[in-house]
Amino acid sequence: MQKRICVIEGDGIGPEVMAQALKVLDKVAQKFNHKFDYEYCLAGGAAIDKTGKCLPKETLAMVLNTDSTLLGAVGGNKWDSEPQDNRPEKALLGIRKAMQVYANLRPQKLYAELDSPLKPELIGDGIDIMIVRELVSGVYFGEHKLGIDNDEQVATDIMKYTENEIKRVSKVAFELAEKRSGNLLLVDKANVLATSKLWRKVVENMSKDYKNVNVSYMYVDNCAMQLIKNPSKIDVILTENMFGDILSDEASAIIGSIGMAGSCSLGDGKRGFYEAIHGSAPDIAGLDICNPIGMIMSVAMMLRNSFDMEKEADSVEKAVKKFIQDGYRTKDIMQENKKIVKCSEAGDIICSFI
Ligand code: IPM
Ligand code: MG
Repeated sequence: MQKRICVIEGDGIGPEVMAQALKVLDKVAQKFNHKFDYEYCLAGGAAIDKTGKCLPKETLAMVLNTDSTLLGAVGGNKWDSEPQDNRPEKALLGIRKAMQVYANLRPQKLYAELDSPLKPELIGDGIDIMIVRELVSGVYFGEHKLGIDNDEQVATDIMKYTENEIKRVSKVAFELAEKRSGNLLLVDKANVLATSKLWRKVVENMSKDYKNVNVSYMYVDNCAMQLIKNPSKIDVILTENMFGDILSDEASAIIGSIGMAGSCSLGDGKRGFYEAIHGSAPDIAGLDICNPIGMIMSVAMMLRNSFDMEKEADSVEKAVKKFIQDGYRTKDIMQENKKIVKCSEAGDIICSFI
C-alpha cells in the first residue's frame, strides 16, 4: 500500500522523536512491502522563525491533503512574547480544528517491567487506561477575552458544547468501551457547570443504545484523586477537552513517564492526527536523551486506525515491548541494572526488533 504522510517535526525534542518514528515507518515499509511518502511541513515555533506565522497556509493545506499527519511537539519559551494568536500552541489547535479530529485517544498503560511512582499496593493488578478526550471544542476554542472593565482588568474564556459535539465523541468512547471491559466513565463537573450537565444528559441518553456498556459518572476533582488511589479500577474515561488535557498528563505520570504515551486523533473519516502527548521539552532538546516511545506508539496507532495495517501496528508494539523487556531504557525510565540508551539508539534497537 502507498500512503502520503504529512510530517511536522516541530520544536525542541520534536525533530529527535520524529526521526525515530520515521525510522520505524521505513522499517515497516520495507518489511511489509508498503511505500510511505513524507511531506515535510512547518508549524509552531519553527514556522514562526521561518515565515513569521505559527501555522502557514501550506501546512494547513497539506494536513488536509495527505492520508494522515505526524507531529513531534511544538512550543518553547523562545516564543513566549508572540501575540496570543500566533503562539506555537495555536498551530496545534488550528490543525486539530481544521482536520476536525474531535476524538483524541490517549492510552495510558504501565508496562510490568517499569516503575510507577505509585506504591505497588496502589497499582493493584496494573494500569491500563484509555482516555477519550474531546479535542476540537470546549473552552480551548471558546472566545478568549482580556480587557478593562470599570478600571480593572477582566478576562473571560467561554466554554461551550453542542449536543452533536458531545454525541460524536461519545460514540467513539462507547464503541471502545464495548471492545474493552465494557465500563465507561464520564468525567465532568456536573455539580457546577452547565456544559457538564449537557454531557451527562447526552451520554445517559446514548447509554440506552449500548446495553453491554456500564456507564458511571465522576466529578473531575474526584477523578484526579482516584487516578492516584485506584488507577486499576479505571478503564475508559470520556471527558471534555480541558479535563482530558489535564487528566492525561496526570495519568502519564503514574505509568512512569510522559515520554511513553502516544495519541491518536480522529474525526469522521480515516485521516488522523498523531502526536506523542509530551511537549517540546526545550531543556533537553538536542541532547539525544529524550524518549521516542510516545511518538513510536503514535505511529503504531496511525498504522492501525488510519491505514488498517493491523499486523504492522502489532509488530511495532511488540518491538517496543521487547525493547523494554530486554532491559533497554532511556533516561526518563532508567532503573537500576538496566541499559541506558540514547534516543537515536532506542529508535535503532526498536527497528531491529520489527
Ligand atoms: C496537549 C497539549 C496541548 C493541548 C497544548 C500544547 C495546546 O497540552 O496536547 O495535551 O492542550 O491540547
Ligand atoms: Mg496537554
